[in-house]
Amino acid sequence: MASISFQVNGQPRTVDAEPEMPLLWVLRDVLQLTGTKFGCGMALCGACTVHINGDAVRSCVTQISTVAGKSVTTIEGLSASGGDAVQQAWIAEQVPQCGYCQSGQIMAAVALLARTPKPTDSDIDRGMSGNICRCGTYQRIRRAIHRAAGQLEADTNPVAGVSTGGKQ
Ligand code: FES
Ligand code: FES
Repeated sequence: MASISFQVNGQPRTVDAEPEMPLLWVLRDVLQLTGTKFGCGMALCGACTVHINGDAVRSCVTQISTVAGKSVTTIEGLSASGGDAVQQAWIAEQVPQCGYCQSGQIMAAVALLARTPKPTDSDIDRGMSGNICRCGTYQRIRRAIHRAAGQLEADTNPVAGVSTGGKQ
């Protein structure tokens, strides 16, 4: 057992855990933050995506010992760290079906937009390719990312207007 301190959604947390325990287990089972989902456990599906120091990572294969001193953001803390536009776009485009993959999709989309504020379709396909949706919501995810990009641009430059995500 080790005592490991890090920030989660802006709050300092200390957990006693085996150093190799996956961050995903700590989030869900120790801290009760169950918005982050378990899909494959092998870094193949993206359901467990969270941010560490702003980068999208697979929490199922991230040992908790590597998170010490870092800042973790989960879907529960996303709006406080600037993810509102993406979440609103997801609602406007009615993206989710079963919803299971969607917290990981949103976390990946926020990281993509931080790197690439005006992504093309191929930027989106490439940036989101590690996030699997069994319900096949990929077209709506793409529209929502374009919508969020337009909203973020309008927020910083109101003259530019708001994208409708391709809808008339
Ligand atoms: S549960 Fe982590 S990538 Fe699938
Ligand atoms: S909405 Fe069902 S798996 Fe993506």
